[in-house]
Amino acid sequence: MDFVLQSTASGSNARAGLITTDHGVIETPIFMPVGTLGSVKSVHQHELRDDIKAQIILGNTYHLYLRPGIDILEKAGGLHKFNGWERPILTDSGGFQVFSLAANRKLTEEGAWFRSHIDGSKHLFTPESVVDIERSIGADIMMALDECPPGTADIDYARKSLRLTQRWLERGWKRYKETEGRYGYRQAYFPIVQGVVYPELRRDAAKHVADLGADGNAIGGLAVGEPTEVMYDMIEVVNEILPADKPRYLMGVGTPANILEAIDRGVDMMDCVMPTRNGRNGMLFTAHGIMNMRNRKWADDFSPIQEDGPSYVDRTYTKAYLRHLFISDEILAMQIASIHNLAFYLWLVGEARRHIIAGDFKVWKTEMVERVTRRL
Ligand code: GUN
Repeated sequence: MDFVLQSTASGSNARAGLITTDHGVIETPIFMPVGTLGSVKSVHQHELRDDIKAQIILGNTYHLYLRPGIDILEKAGGLHKFNGWERPILTDSGGFQVFSLAANRKLTEEGAWFRSHIDGSKHLFTPESVVDIERSIGADIMMALDECPPGTADIDYARKSLRLTQRWLERGWKRYKETEGRYGYRQAYFPIVQGVVYPELRRDAAKHVADLGADGNAIGGLAVGEPTEVMYDMIEVVNEILPADKPRYLMGVGTPANILEAIDRGVDMMDCVMPTRNGRNGMLFTAHGIMNMRNRKWADDFSPIQEDGPSYVDRTYTKAYLRHLFISDEILAMQIASIHNLAFYLWLVGEARRHIIAGDFKVWKTEMVERVTRRL
């Protein structure tokens, strides 16, 4: 995997770059739709490619390991072959899901023990086994196994947890270096900076991660209960240390405003379930503000979803029709909302990139943050 930094914004740490993988080029800053089980929920691959203009999607190690299982993914020849997505895929390591979904989880030096949320069966993820699983899934970018403590963790817990994540990282990195992709293309391995809300721990974590010399670096443990301003401060602290010539990936963030603020602070890649999950619940993000499509006020509003929106659903369907579909629990409501929201997120990062290159990112961002946070 290669990264070329093309442009840095004036008066901001925002950057535009190109990541080259064996499954294609990714223009940064980029938003990555979440496809936990190998599918971006309710969206076809051709819609992702042609309408949403996604350049890379996520899969999840925890979920794919439990279902369909690694034997099936290996037989398929990897996730790209299994799900028909020919562009880059990034897999999260599953550490985060072990904590949010699995029962009876227990951390030991060896790894994370957990019981499946599906059938209660007992499993162990180690830093090494997660590399092996991600090799079998065939992700272009594999994430290291980490512990993501809550944003409210005290400093003693945060330090202890960070040390464990750091020891796991060294083991995972060793396994990564000793192994090769099984499908003939390159796979990168990204370490994750933790450290909760403590600047000294975040700096320590960022130095440790930077020393590894990986193809890219991630910032985890944010948007997990800490105030938004603290999240922004942590991104700044960490990005002062993470190498500028490698992509920086902020995990699990966030709202359109969060995304713009992260880009402003030097983040290149982001993912979040918000456009799809909130979309399925009727929340639409637009360049003019946020709409709750279940609201009565849209019942007889026959204007397009978003007149100047980036995808065909924006002009094909009216607000009144989409509200009707949501109120009637029609499947199409979720499909339309997911396509709209993802197309909007991809449009937003594409515009950010354009303004970084044009040199007026800061002014554009300030106005856009105000616009995207309005309630319509
Ligand atoms: N997704 C969102 N935050 C995190 C994190 O801290 N670690 C991992 N592995 N995934 C995440």
